Amino acid sequence: MSEIRIQEVSTSPFDDQKPGTAGLRKKVVVFQQEHYLENFVQCIFEALALDDGAVLVLGGDGRFFNREAIQIIVAMAAANGIGGLIIGQNGLLSTPAASNLIRKRKADGGILLTASHNPGGPKGDFGIKFNTSSGGQAPEHVTNACYEHSKSIRSYKIADIEPIDLSVADTTQIGDMTVEVIDSVSDYVDMMEEIFDFELIRHKLKTDIRLHFDGLNAATGPYAQRIFCEILGAPAESVTNAVPLEDFGGLHPDPNPVEASHLVEIANSEGAADLLAASDGDGDRNMILGRGMVVSPGDSLAIMAANAQVAPGYRSGIPGVARSMPTSRAVDMVATELDIPLYETPTGWKFFCNLMESGRIALCGEESFGTSSDHTREKDGLWAVLFWLNMMAALEQSVAEIVRNHWARFGRCFFQRRDYFIEDAAQANALMENLYASVDQLVARHAKVSKADAFNYTDPVDGSESLKQGVRVYFADGGRIVYRLSGTGTSGATLRVYLDKPEHTPERIDLEASAALAELAAAAADIAAIEEYAGLQAPTAIIG
Ligand code: G1P
Ligand code: ZN
Repeated sequence: MSEIRIQEVSTSPFDDQKPGTAGLRKKVVVFQQEHYLENFVQCIFEALALDDGAVLVLGGDGRFFNREAIQIIVAMAAANGIGGLIIGQNGLLSTPAASNLIRKRKADGGILLTASHNPGGPKGDFGIKFNTSSGGQAPEHVTNACYEHSKSIRSYKIADIEPIDLSVADTTQIGDMTVEVIDSVSDYVDMMEEIFDFELIRHKLKTDIRLHFDGLNAATGPYAQRIFCEILGAPAESVTNAVPLEDFGGLHPDPNPVEASHLVEIANSEGAADLLAASDGDGDRNMILGRGMVVSPGDSLAIMAANAQVAPGYRSGIPGVARSMPTSRAVDMVATELDIPLYETPTGWKFFCNLMESGRIALCGEESFGTSSDHTREKDGLWAVLFWLNMMAALEQSVAEIVRNHWARFGRCFFQRRDYFIEDAAQANALMENLYASVDQLVARHAKVSKADAFNYTDPVDGSESLKQGVRVYFADGGRIVYRLSGTGTSGATLRVYLDKPEHTPERIDLEASAALAELAAAAADIAAIEEYAGLQAPTAIIG
């Protein structure tokens, strides 16, 4: 085996390498600074505390800087005693596919290069997150350890090697490290075939379901083409924007009605497909639309939970469900009726993982267009699309029929998220601190508020605590407001205000969410004194 030359490079700490909701996300230019990526990667190796010879999965969403970053990580892995790397061809792996590979190949963890739904290109964002051997994102004590290292790092190790060829699926040896470049798609496809009724879906796609999946020029294109067109026989035009591009072709790879409004327009136009869907940069989010209808993510989760038995993978029943705290309580209404446990976790997928590992839940989701199950340890965009196809095929109903029948049976939970972009993060922090400080007085101050608290979470599996994860305000009429600050932005701060309200009265069930939630919206601005703290009279974006 050829010897490789290893360098120990002197460096100094950067003061901004604290991982957020899902890893470290910064502008590309920040990552391009000398030593910036290397410092953080070295800290990941330290934090994961891997044994010599450990195996890691490596890949990304194909955005600008993905390939360069992969070559750097390969060289650093070789210098840090890593024994094997499993890399997606062309450096491409969707987040759920990477999570699956870690589990299937029993790897010791993974490094995923993505800034998820944030824009790409040289002026866009880049990101890096790391997962443990369970396939899930590193828990807080590990990301905290990474951050601690980043504050005192003095050197990193890197091997002097030629760039590897990422374009061909092949195995090569670099010193003691085996590098396997693999087909990014096939293991993921195998997993989907085990969960869903491919035969039934294939039949319906041939006869009466028309699909339009938009890959938004991001990671899922090749997965969608293989699954929907090659395997399930949908016509080629069923998948659009299927080629991953470094800048996502200028599209914002965020599948929600604001950023992907073109899909809403298509869904509302004549001749629209029966099911329309999109996924985000790294393929973990999903947006589901039917003719004339956008399915709210909270409804989507609730509907999946209520109909899980249509998919062979869940036929034997689901032990429980979970949602992130700000997510609509639609799924709670299903859990109550099905008499299964419901868990409310802080924002961020990692909190679901212990619940899945311990067999407490099968399905889980977030309002931010993320749903998934215990088949992997990340949210999964294409899985959600297949779930909807499977439901439509098995129930022989359109998207709108499925949604309306669900509301008729369980009631509806109206939901809306109102985002306020606040340029000066200090103002946003002051606003939140004021809310935390006054939360105990809210019931006394507002006649309609029945309860208010700061959300503190104790993980039921390992007992770890996550404090101050947002403020919850409950109203006597069933409404709820949640406040928290985004942890994924790369500049300024975003205050997220979430409104939800269960409704059982048939005459009110078809209201627009904004009408049903108007009173709550006004109360939300008032309670947090948003104008006073941030000078904003209206949200920057309203979703739902
Ligand atoms: C956002 C979403 C959250 C999701 C995260 C990663 O985080 O709100 O649900 O888990 O992206 O995709 P936030 O910016 O709110 O911290
Ligand atoms: Zn994502």
